[in-house]
Amino acid sequence: MALSKILEASQYILSKISTKPKVGIVLGSGLGIYIDQMQNKTIIPYEDIPHFRRTSVEGHSGALIIGEIHGVSVAALQGRLHAYEGHPMEEIVLPVRTLAAIGVEILFLTNASGGINPNFHPGDLVSITDHINLSGRNPLVGPNIAELGPRFPDMGNAYDSELRKLLAAVARNHHVEIKDGVYCSVLGPTYETPAEIRMLRIIGADLVGMSTVPEVIAANHLGLKVVGVACITNYAAGIKQEKLNHADVKKVAEKAMVGFATILTETIGELKKTGKV
Ligand code: HPA
Repeated sequence: MALSKILEASQYILSKISTKPKVGIVLGSGLGIYIDQMQNKTIIPYEDIPHFRRTSVEGHSGALIIGEIHGVSVAALQGRLHAYEGHPMEEIVLPVRTLAAIGVEILFLTNASGGINPNFHPGDLVSITDHINLSGRNPLVGPNIAELGPRFPDMGNAYDSELRKLLAAVARNHHVEIKDGVYCSVLGPTYETPAEIRMLRIIGADLVGMSTVPEVIAANHLGLKVVGVACITNYAAGIKQEKLNHADVKKVAEKAMVGFATILTETIGELKKTGKV
Protein backbone atom coordinates (compact mmCIF):
# COMPACT_ATOMS: atom_id res chain seq x y z
CA MET A 1 0.00 0.00 0.00
CA ALA A 2 1.24 3.49 -0.86
CA LEU A 3 1.19 4.75 2.72
CA SER A 4 3.42 2.02 4.15
CA LYS A 5 5.89 2.48 1.28
CA ILE A 6 6.09 6.21 2.00
CA LEU A 7 6.67 5.51 5.69
CA GLU A 8 9.38 2.93 5.07
CA ALA A 9 11.17 5.15 2.55
CA SER A 10 10.98 8.22 4.77
CA GLN A 11 12.12 6.34 7.89
CA TYR A 12 15.16 5.08 6.01
CA ILE A 13 16.06 8.60 4.82
CA LEU A 14 15.53 10.15 8.26
CA SER A 15 17.90 7.54 9.72
CA LYS A 16 20.67 8.96 7.46
CA ILE A 17 20.27 12.70 8.20
CA SER A 18 20.25 14.97 11.22
CA THR A 19 18.21 17.94 9.94
CA LYS A 20 14.80 17.67 8.32
CA PRO A 21 14.71 19.50 4.98
CA LYS A 22 11.85 21.95 4.39
CA VAL A 23 12.69 22.56 0.74
CA GLY A 24 12.64 19.91 -1.98
CA ILE A 25 13.90 20.08 -5.54
CA VAL A 26 13.23 17.69 -8.41
CA LEU A 27 15.97 18.06 -11.01
CA GLY A 28 14.95 17.39 -14.61
CA SER A 29 16.92 16.36 -17.71
CA GLY A 30 20.39 17.97 -17.82
CA LEU A 31 19.76 19.88 -14.56
CA GLY A 32 21.14 17.25 -12.17
CA ILE A 33 24.46 19.08 -11.81
CA TYR A 34 22.67 21.70 -9.72
CA ILE A 35 23.68 19.55 -6.73
CA ASP A 36 27.18 21.05 -7.10
CA GLN A 37 25.66 24.17 -5.46
CA MET A 38 24.82 22.26 -2.29
CA GLN A 39 27.06 22.05 0.77
CA ASN A 40 27.46 19.31 3.40
CA LYS A 41 25.82 16.74 1.15
CA THR A 42 24.52 13.33 2.07
CA ILE A 43 24.01 11.30 -1.11
CA ILE A 44 21.55 8.41 -0.94
CA PRO A 45 21.27 6.33 -4.14
CA TYR A 46 17.68 5.45 -5.04
CA GLU A 47 18.51 1.75 -4.90
CA ASP A 48 19.25 2.08 -1.17
CA ILE A 49 15.87 3.67 -0.39
CA PRO A 50 13.07 1.16 0.15
CA HIS A 51 10.60 1.10 -2.79
CA PHE A 52 12.44 3.78 -4.84
CA ARG A 53 12.97 2.78 -8.47
CA ARG A 54 15.92 3.68 -10.66
CA THR A 55 15.10 5.72 -13.75
CA SER A 56 16.02 4.25 -17.13
CA VAL A 57 16.43 7.60 -18.89
CA GLU A 58 19.84 8.88 -19.89
CA GLY A 59 20.62 12.24 -18.26
CA HIS A 60 18.70 11.25 -15.16
CA SER A 61 20.80 9.64 -12.48
CA GLY A 62 19.03 8.29 -9.47
CA ALA A 63 19.94 9.71 -6.11
CA LEU A 64 18.50 11.76 -3.29
CA ILE A 65 20.90 14.47 -2.20
CA ILE A 66 20.35 16.18 1.12
CA GLY A 67 22.49 19.23 1.73
CA GLU A 68 22.44 22.96 2.35
CA ILE A 69 21.78 26.01 0.19
CA HIS A 70 22.39 29.30 2.01
CA GLY A 71 22.27 27.26 5.21
CA VAL A 72 18.80 25.91 4.39
CA SER A 73 18.45 22.13 4.49
CA VAL A 74 17.35 21.01 1.02
CA ALA A 75 16.45 17.60 -0.40
CA ALA A 76 17.12 17.23 -4.12
CA LEU A 77 15.85 14.35 -6.22
CA GLN A 78 18.37 13.86 -8.99
CA GLY A 79 16.46 11.88 -11.57
CA ARG A 80 12.76 11.17 -11.84
CA LEU A 81 10.53 8.47 -13.22
CA HIS A 82 8.32 9.08 -16.25
CA ALA A 83 5.06 7.44 -17.26
CA TYR A 84 6.49 6.68 -20.71
CA GLU A 85 9.05 4.36 -19.07
CA GLY A 86 6.08 2.23 -18.08
CA HIS A 87 6.12 3.12 -14.40
CA PRO A 88 2.80 3.21 -12.58
CA MET A 89 1.77 6.65 -11.29
CA GLU A 90 2.10 5.51 -7.67
CA GLU A 91 5.82 4.85 -8.20
CA ILE A 92 6.34 8.11 -10.08
CA VAL A 93 5.02 10.19 -7.19
CA LEU A 94 6.51 8.11 -4.35
CA PRO A 95 9.67 10.27 -4.15
CA VAL A 96 7.66 13.51 -3.83
CA ARG A 97 5.36 11.98 -1.22
CA THR A 98 8.43 10.76 0.65
CA LEU A 99 9.94 14.26 0.62
CA ALA A 100 6.74 15.57 2.21
CA ALA A 101 6.96 12.82 4.84
CA ILE A 102 10.50 13.89 5.82
CA GLY A 103 9.39 17.51 6.28
CA VAL A 104 9.44 19.24 2.88
CA GLU A 105 6.86 22.03 2.57
CA ILE A 106 8.05 23.87 -0.54
CA LEU A 107 8.85 21.93 -3.71
CA PHE A 108 10.75 23.20 -6.73
CA LEU A 109 10.03 21.06 -9.78
CA THR A 110 12.23 21.50 -12.81
CA ASN A 111 12.18 20.04 -16.28
CA ALA A 112 13.32 20.28 -19.87
CA SER A 113 10.51 21.36 -22.20
CA GLY A 114 9.80 22.08 -25.83
CA GLY A 115 8.84 25.70 -26.59
CA ILE A 116 5.49 26.23 -28.28
CA ASN A 117 5.08 29.96 -27.63
CA PRO A 118 6.87 31.69 -30.54
CA ASN A 119 8.61 33.98 -28.01
CA PHE A 120 10.32 30.99 -26.39
CA HIS A 121 13.80 29.94 -27.53
CA PRO A 122 16.19 27.13 -26.57
CA GLY A 123 18.00 28.09 -23.38
CA ASP A 124 15.08 30.17 -22.02
CA LEU A 125 13.92 29.63 -18.47
CA VAL A 126 10.17 29.60 -17.85
CA SER A 127 8.25 29.89 -14.60
CA ILE A 128 5.28 27.55 -15.00
CA THR A 129 2.09 29.44 -14.19
CA ASP A 130 -0.37 26.59 -14.74
CA HIS A 131 -0.68 23.31 -16.60
CA ILE A 132 -2.85 21.32 -18.97
CA ASN A 133 -2.69 17.60 -18.24
CA LEU A 134 -2.98 15.77 -21.56
CA SER A 135 -1.01 12.72 -20.42
CA GLY A 136 -4.17 10.73 -19.77
CA ARG A 137 -2.81 9.88 -16.31
CA ASN A 138 -3.45 11.20 -12.83
CA PRO A 139 -1.61 9.90 -9.75
CA LEU A 140 -4.72 10.27 -7.58
CA VAL A 141 -6.82 7.76 -9.54
CA GLY A 142 -7.92 4.96 -7.21
CA PRO A 143 -9.05 4.99 -3.59
CA ASN A 144 -8.15 8.30 -1.96
CA ILE A 145 -5.50 8.09 0.76
CA ALA A 146 -7.08 10.46 3.26
CA GLU A 147 -3.85 10.64 5.30
CA LEU A 148 -2.23 12.34 2.31
CA GLY A 149 -4.97 14.73 1.23
CA PRO A 150 -8.55 15.24 0.06
CA ARG A 151 -10.44 13.26 -2.62
CA PHE A 152 -10.89 16.28 -4.86
CA PRO A 153 -7.90 18.59 -4.39
CA ASP A 154 -8.11 22.18 -5.54
CA MET A 155 -5.69 22.97 -8.37
CA GLY A 156 -6.44 26.69 -8.68
CA ASN A 157 -3.04 27.73 -7.35
CA ALA A 158 -1.09 24.62 -8.30
CA TYR A 159 2.02 26.75 -8.95
CA ASP A 160 1.97 28.98 -5.88
CA SER A 161 1.41 32.60 -6.94
CA GLU A 162 3.36 34.10 -4.00
CA LEU A 163 6.38 31.92 -4.73
CA ARG A 164 6.13 32.73 -8.45
CA LYS A 165 6.28 36.43 -7.56
CA LEU A 166 9.30 35.81 -5.37
CA LEU A 167 11.03 33.82 -8.13
CA ALA A 168 10.37 36.59 -10.65
CA ALA A 169 11.71 39.26 -8.27
CA VAL A 170 14.85 37.24 -7.54
CA ALA A 171 15.41 36.70 -11.28
CA ARG A 172 15.04 40.45 -11.95
CA ASN A 173 17.44 41.36 -9.15
CA HIS A 174 20.05 38.93 -10.48
CA HIS A 175 19.54 39.87 -14.15
CA VAL A 176 18.36 36.41 -15.12
CA GLU A 177 15.57 36.39 -17.68
CA ILE A 178 12.63 34.14 -16.85
CA LYS A 179 9.40 34.01 -18.83
CA ASP A 180 5.95 32.82 -17.75
CA GLY A 181 4.09 29.98 -19.43
CA VAL A 182 1.43 27.27 -19.29
CA TYR A 183 2.95 23.77 -19.38
CA CYS A 184 1.22 20.96 -21.21
CA SER A 185 2.11 17.42 -20.18
CA VAL A 186 1.92 14.60 -22.68
CA LEU A 187 2.65 10.91 -22.21
CA GLY A 188 5.46 10.52 -24.77
CA PRO A 189 7.92 8.97 -25.49
CA THR A 190 7.47 10.25 -29.05
CA TYR A 191 7.92 13.95 -29.48
CA GLU A 192 4.74 15.59 -30.75
CA THR A 193 3.73 15.96 -34.37
CA PRO A 194 3.50 19.48 -35.84
CA ALA A 195 -0.30 19.11 -35.92
CA GLU A 196 -0.35 18.23 -32.23
CA ILE A 197 1.76 21.29 -31.43
CA ARG A 198 -0.62 23.53 -33.41
CA MET A 199 -3.47 22.10 -31.34
CA LEU A 200 -1.59 22.66 -28.07
CA ARG A 201 -0.96 26.27 -29.01
CA ILE A 202 -4.67 26.78 -29.71
CA ILE A 203 -5.72 25.31 -26.36
CA GLY A 204 -3.37 27.63 -24.47
CA ALA A 205 -0.09 25.79 -23.97
CA ASP A 206 3.24 27.64 -24.10
CA LEU A 207 5.54 24.70 -23.47
CA VAL A 208 5.31 20.92 -23.59
CA GLY A 209 6.98 18.06 -21.78
CA MET A 210 6.61 14.52 -20.51
CA SER A 211 7.01 14.97 -16.75
CA THR A 212 6.29 17.27 -13.79
CA VAL A 213 2.48 17.16 -13.75
CA PRO A 214 2.15 13.90 -11.75
CA GLU A 215 4.46 15.37 -9.10
CA VAL A 216 2.61 18.71 -9.11
CA ILE A 217 -0.70 16.92 -8.58
CA ALA A 218 0.67 14.73 -5.78
CA ALA A 219 2.35 17.73 -4.13
CA ASN A 220 -0.83 19.83 -4.23
CA HIS A 221 -2.80 16.88 -2.84
CA LEU A 222 -0.36 16.91 0.09
CA GLY A 223 -0.73 20.67 0.54
CA LEU A 224 2.84 21.48 -0.51
CA LYS A 225 3.63 24.79 -2.17
CA VAL A 226 4.98 24.20 -5.66
CA VAL A 227 7.25 26.17 -7.96
CA GLY A 228 7.80 24.94 -11.53
CA VAL A 229 10.85 26.02 -13.52
CA ALA A 230 11.30 24.75 -17.06
CA CYS A 231 14.28 25.05 -19.32
CA ILE A 232 13.29 25.33 -22.97
CA THR A 233 15.62 22.92 -24.70
CA ASN A 234 14.15 22.95 -28.20
CA TYR A 235 11.47 24.44 -30.39
CA ALA A 236 8.45 22.12 -30.28
CA ALA A 237 7.74 20.17 -33.47
CA GLY A 238 6.94 22.29 -36.49
CA ILE A 239 7.86 25.61 -34.81
CA LYS A 240 11.27 25.47 -36.57
CA GLN A 241 12.40 22.88 -39.10
CA GLU A 242 14.67 20.93 -36.76
CA LYS A 243 14.78 17.27 -35.85
CA LEU A 244 14.35 16.67 -32.12
CA ASN A 245 16.73 14.49 -30.16
CA HIS A 246 17.45 13.86 -26.50
CA ALA A 247 21.19 14.69 -26.73
CA ASP A 248 20.41 18.29 -27.81
CA VAL A 249 17.79 18.57 -25.07
CA LYS A 250 20.40 17.68 -22.45
CA LYS A 251 23.09 19.99 -23.91
CA VAL A 252 20.84 23.07 -23.91
CA ALA A 253 19.65 22.39 -20.36
CA GLU A 254 23.27 22.23 -19.21
CA LYS A 255 23.96 25.64 -20.84
CA ALA A 256 21.03 27.26 -19.05
CA MET A 257 22.43 26.00 -15.74
CA VAL A 258 24.09 29.26 -14.62
CA GLY A 259 20.88 31.31 -14.69
CA PHE A 260 18.86 28.40 -13.40
CA ALA A 261 21.23 27.80 -10.47
CA THR A 262 21.25 31.51 -9.59
CA ILE A 263 17.50 31.90 -9.36
CA LEU A 264 16.98 28.64 -7.51
CA THR A 265 19.75 29.29 -4.98
CA GLU A 266 18.82 32.93 -4.42
CA THR A 267 15.10 32.18 -4.11
CA ILE A 268 15.92 29.67 -1.36
CA GLY A 269 18.10 32.38 0.25
CA GLU A 270 15.13 34.79 0.17
CA LEU A 271 12.84 32.18 1.70
CA LYS A 272 15.27 31.93 4.57
CA LYS A 273 15.60 35.73 4.96
CA THR A 274 11.84 36.10 5.13
CA GLY A 275 11.47 33.28 7.65
CA LYS A 276 9.49 31.01 5.31
CA VAL A 277 11.89 28.10 5.78
N1 HPA B 1 8.20 17.68 -26.35
C1 HPA B 1 7.96 16.91 -25.27
N2 HPA B 1 8.82 16.79 -24.26
C2 HPA B 1 9.98 17.48 -24.34
C3 HPA B 1 10.28 18.29 -25.44
C4 HPA B 1 9.34 18.39 -26.52
O1 HPA B 1 9.55 19.08 -27.51
N3 HPA B 1 11.51 18.83 -25.21
C5 HPA B 1 11.91 18.36 -24.00
N4 HPA B 1 11.00 17.54 -23.47
